[in-house]
Amino acid sequence: MTTETTNLSDRGEGSQAEISDEIETLHAGYQQRRQQGEPPAQQPSLDFPPYRSSILRHPTKNPRHVDPETIELASPAFGHTDVSVLESNLTIVHNGEPLGERMVVSGRLLDGEGRPVRNQLIELWQANSAGRYIHKRDQHPAPIDPNFTGAGRCITDDDGGYSFLTIKPGAYPWKNHRNAWRPAHIHFSVFGTAFTQRIVTQMYFPGDPLFPLDPIYNSIVDPDARERLVAKFDHSLTSPEWALGYRWDIVLTGSKATWVEPEGDDE
Ligand SMILES: [Fe+2]
Repeated sequence: MTTETTNLSDRGEGSQAEISDEIETLHAGYQQRRQQGEPPAQQPSLDFPPYRSSILRHPTKNPRHVDPETIELASPAFGHTDVSVLESNLTIVHNGEPLGERMVVSGRLLDGEGRPVRNQLIELWQANSAGRYIHKRDQHPAPIDPNFTGAGRCITDDDGGYSFLTIKPGAYPWKNHRNAWRPAHIHFSVFGTAFTQRIVTQMYFPGDPLFPLDPIYNSIVDPDARERLVAKFDHSLTSPEWALGYRWDIVLTGSKATWVEPEGDDE
């Protein structure tokens, strides 16, 4: 890679202390504006300088709306019947058992009024238990698990419910700034009836010590909106002698909506 093509993320500018200070200042500014009557921010700040690697690639203009009807004529669509129930089990994709902490993650896909959103495609992707993605861009020195790919999908049931059996992902380093680590997370994508309605978000795990340090998590300046991305440990979902259980609902609209990623985020 030449100097000309090296971007901010590769340079890893800033120490964790500098990033944490900036996050604190931006959050304090948000709280001050809230006290002055500003409504709660439901979505992340697109211009969030501590998220260094987004500085040159975050959208600076309003999204351009395209006609969904026209798009639908040219874009592919998943057939629900092509999704096998086995695809929600990420632990049986290869010949052997993947390493790490087996876990169930279940929840419901809901609209803003709490109604179930049925028959929708939910996809997830994640790092393995050592924090390593199978993607070729991830070259940090953690082991690849030959028995774990880290991708799955399912269709929501009549109650809007979904359930995956997977391995708890590890935290991993990234090059936003020096010594930057992402809290453990699972990426989720939800499709509506067309590709133009796809949303992408991340689910986190309770009590992660990396929360205060992570500029992606903190680009959601509203504490309640951040909290909605954290799954709850749920003993009733655990499977005896087999897997721990986490519950996480995805709310598509309204004041309790789940934060969704701006286009282009992929960490
Ligand atoms: Fe990730």
